[in-house]
This record gives sequence, structure tokens and C-alpha cells, in this order.
Amino acid sequence: MSNKASETSLKKDKKDRFTTSGFIIAAIGSSVGLGNMWKFPYITGKHGGAAFFLLFILCLLIVGLPILLAEMTIGRGGRGNASSSLFNLSGKKYWGVLGLLPILCAFFTMSYYAVVAGWTVHYAVESFTGLLFQPGIDYKEKFVTFAGGYMPIVWQALVVLLTGWIVARGISGGIEKFNKILIPGFLIILIILTFRSVTLPGAEEGLSFFLKPDFSKLDSEAALVALGHAFFSLSIGFGCMLTYGSYVDKKQSLGTATLAIGLGDLIYAFIGGLVIFPTVFSYGLKPGEGVGLAFMALPVAFSQMPFGIIFGGLFFLLLAIAALTSAVSILEVPVSFVMQRWNLSRKRATLYTTILCFIVGVPSALSVSGILNPYKVGEKTIFDVVDFTTSYILMPLGGLIITLFTAYAWKRAGEEAGLTGVWYKIWMFLLRIVNPILILLIFLYSIGVISF
Ligand code: ALA
Repeated sequence: MSNKASETSLKKDKKDRFTTSGFIIAAIGSSVGLGNMWKFPYITGKHGGAAFFLLFILCLLIVGLPILLAEMTIGRGGRGNASSSLFNLSGKKYWGVLGLLPILCAFFTMSYYAVVAGWTVHYAVESFTGLLFQPGIDYKEKFVTFAGGYMPIVWQALVVLLTGWIVARGISGGIEKFNKILIPGFLIILIILTFRSVTLPGAEEGLSFFLKPDFSKLDSEAALVALGHAFFSLSIGFGCMLTYGSYVDKKQSLGTATLAIGLGDLIYAFIGGLVIFPTVFSYGLKPGEGVGLAFMALPVAFSQMPFGIIFGGLFFLLLAIAALTSAVSILEVPVSFVMQRWNLSRKRATLYTTILCFIVGVPSALSVSGILNPYKVGEKTIFDVVDFTTSYILMPLGGLIITLFTAYAWKRAGEEAGLTGVWYKIWMFLLRIVNPILILLIFLYSIGVISF
């Protein structure tokens, strides 16, 4: 594409904005994802159920929401990608350089996120066609065999392609439009599955595991996981909300958006728990199954349930939709950077980023039980390393950068966020003092510098 053509395309893209309702829907679509439906249930299962859920809510309120508001505010004020927005608002090069970290984090998150999203599509297809549910199947072995082959790469490619196709169509005609189609479908499926799950015989045991707190199960690792998950789940610390914020009009209330997104995320995490735990307990499965909970344990339940083919298929379809609406926001982070940094058209920037993202994700896809599985860092596969590094190191660090920037480097943050009086004071208190200390402590713990 000639320079002139790409400049015209960039100008057109600068005018491409979310509508008020479209922004809220797309931002909820970004936050509600595999984090709520795949990750939240297995980490909650591993760290003691209800007590962990309460800790997660605390992290959302104290750390998550203030940073969410800060990210959207920076995006709208700076009108650029995660790096250029920080530079535009401060005029300091080093802030622009620090802003590259969330972009890198989004890129690597997307690389393995597409792998898990690919699994969900595969499982949805296998469920609806009945192939998943055959007598005498060991679902753990089935998952290991599937993940050990090359098919995950094909599904990963499909997810990356679909995500890239939506992102390439732009904000209003791509991301907003598809979220508006997918989110209502997601809601309908979720209601059907929640009803099915809580009415299963023996559902009470799962409900009580999820809703009755046992604080003795909480430890410092649970605190790290809850904080990391607040970042992952709200799509903050890796630039998604900042980038979405750059496509928002001045008339949008960012305070209201923060509450709507936070509440949406929390409700979906809660419903995710309501779908998973009663099903898990009702069929005598273990909630602490780990990464494979959705893929190794739940099919056992669906295979024994009346109309399990349909409920199983709907469950994996739900996961796939949730993954897609988040994946578009994750991919948009590096795409907006590549587009603006190298003056490329949206289509071209998406094409290059998508191809690179796919290639970088292949080792993750092959490491779960495939040919790269023997190559480990300690006990961790490549997949685990990418997941851990992005969720528990880069996202909190990205959050810290956003916190410090808003609290100390940009004087007009309150004005842009539309916050005054006591709300502004609380926001600043959390950003200036509480969050930096909390994030730093937990970050130092996650890299093994301190233990408590
Ligand atoms: N916020 C997205 C999720 O929870 C990334 O999956």
C-alpha cells in the first residue's frame, strides 16, 4: 500500500469510534472470557472455593477497578496505543518506552489464549457431533492425546484468523458489531446452562463449596493468583482497556463504564462458578483438576447427563464465544501499535500481527502434551511459562506502570476521568499508595524475592 493510501486509511481509522452502548458491550466482552469460564473455576477449585472468591472480589475492588478507570482514562486522553498515549500525555520518551510492556504482554497473552480458544472450538464441534461422548472413554487421556497431536495448531490458526478478520474490519464495523451479535447469544446459553447445573441432583454440595468460605485454605499463593486473575479477568495491565478507551467519545462516562464492566465481570465469574461447581460435585469430580478442569472433568458429567450432547456442546460454544470477544480486544492492542508506529493500514497491521502471533503461539500449543512437552522450566511447560509470565508478572507490572503514571505523572487524570471530590480522593489514594505497595509486594513474591 502506498504511503498516501495508508495515511488515508489511518485518518479513517482515527475517526472510527465505539458508540456509547457499543463500548460498554465490547468492554464487557473483553473482560468476560476464558478467564471467567475456564480459569476462574479451576483456580477457585484449587484455592479453596468461596474464600478465594471473596479475595478475588477484594482485589477487583481495591486494585482492579481503579486501574480499569485509569487505563480507559489514559486511552481517551492520549488517543493512541498503550505506548503513544503515555508519551502524548506526558511528553516523556521513557513513559512511551514503559508503555511497550503492556503491548508485549498482550501479544504473548494472545499467543497462548488462541491455543485454549482453539481447544474450546474443537470440543464444541466434537460435542455437537457426539464424537466426544462415547462409552468407556477416559476423558483425561482423550485430552492428552488431542493436545499431544497437531490438531490444536489447526484450531489455533482458525481462532487467530477469525479474530484477525474481525479486528481488520475496524472498531464500529468489526469489534463493536460482532460483540453486539455474540454477547446476547452468550447470555442465552449461560442462562440455559446455569439452570441445568443448579437443578442437577446433588448440586448443593457444589454450591456450598463455591458459596461457603473456608479461610484456612487461603495462603500467600492464593493472594498472588487472585490479584493476577483480577488483572487477567478485567483485561487490564496489558493495554486492552487503554486501547478500547482510545476509541471512546468524550461524552461517555468512564466512571459508569468502570462500574458496568466491573459488575459484569464479577457477575459472569459468579455465574461461571454456578455452572461449573454443581456439575463437578454432582458427578463426583474434583474441583481442583487444574487447567484441564473444563476439558478433562466436565465431559464426564456431560456424558452422563440427559441431553448431555447438547449441554456439552452449548458449554464449549459458550467458552468459544467468550474467548473470541476477549481475543479481539487482546489482538487490538498490538495491532493499534503496529498500525500507528509504522503508519500501516489496519488490514496490513492486522495481517502481520496475526501471523506473528500464530507463530509465537505454536510452541505453547505443542507443549501441553505434544512434542515440546519434555522441554520444561522446572515443572512448567512452555504453555505454563507463557501463562505465568504474562498473568502474574507482566500484567501486574503493566498495572503498576498505569498506576504510577496516573497518580504521579499526569496532572489532568481526574478531569479526563470525570472524577471530583471524595471519589477523586479515594481513587488517588488507591493509585498513589495502596496499589503500588500491594502490586509490588505480590510481584516480588511471584518472582521469589520475598516470601510470606
Ligand atoms: N479478560 C479476558 C478473560 O477473562 C482476557 O479471559
